[in-house]
Amino acid sequence: MNCLISAGPTREWIDPVRFISNPSSGKMGYALAQVAHNLGMDVTLVSGPVSIEPPSGVKTISVETALEMKDAMLEFSETADLIIMCAAVCDHRPQKKCDHKVAKENIPETLLLQKNPDILKILGSQKKPGQILVGFAAETHDVLASAKKKLIKKNLDWIVVNDVSNHEIGFMSDTNEVIVLGASDEVERISLADKSIIAKKILHVVYPQWQIKAP
Ligand code: PMT
Repeated sequence: MNCLISAGPTREWIDPVRFISNPSSGKMGYALAQVAHNLGMDVTLVSGPVSIEPPSGVKTISVETALEMKDAMLEFSETADLIIMCAAVCDHRPQKKCDHKVAKENIPETLLLQKNPDILKILGSQKKPGQILVGFAAETHDVLASAKKKLIKKNLDWIVVNDVSNHEIGFMSDTNEVIVLGASDEVERISLADKSIIAKKILHVVYPQWQIKAP
């Protein structure tokens, strides 16, 4: 059973000393990778820059930008049975990256951006028969409706929704609370717990063939 997981943020460089990013710590994706490995899956983790230890026994590929993450995810998706896209990919990157540090007085007041590819949508458009594709949704309002739209638009089997307007869960915290929505309208609520427990319960929902004993 090959499992491919993405985690962490991406960094979109403006110049060699400045970038656009987000607060993802990698904790949720790393917990999923560790649990999947402990369950006997062959796990590849594609990770943006984080400061936590890589999960033991997991092949970890480090990337920085959304474009690098896209290349790695597409490469390893070829042989993946289960793909979980937990990374917080920056939706945009600067139109131009400067090779040298831009002096403070020369920084324009407006930064021109261009869209990054939607990695999950690409994975959904080329899903292999039998492959299970799971996305995450970081929402602050109309949480379920927004997540449902993403599930359909990106051709997912499951989407894991976290309400990131609650600072006790989601980005950076050790805990999370999620709702897992299925393409056939299944709704599983997983209440507040450590991210390792949440990870076990998510895997149990999206791949019930694994008999998981959550503590
Ligand atoms: O890392 P932690 O600090 O533990 O925090 C965990 C988390 C909050 C980052 C995680 O639980 C989470 O919600 N991850 C998804 C964050 C996100 O980017 O959500 P979104 O609703 O913007 O994107 C929807 C889905 O599309 C996600 O699976 C995302 O990986 C994917 N996406 C988004 C943009 C893009 N250009 N390419 C993508 O593949």
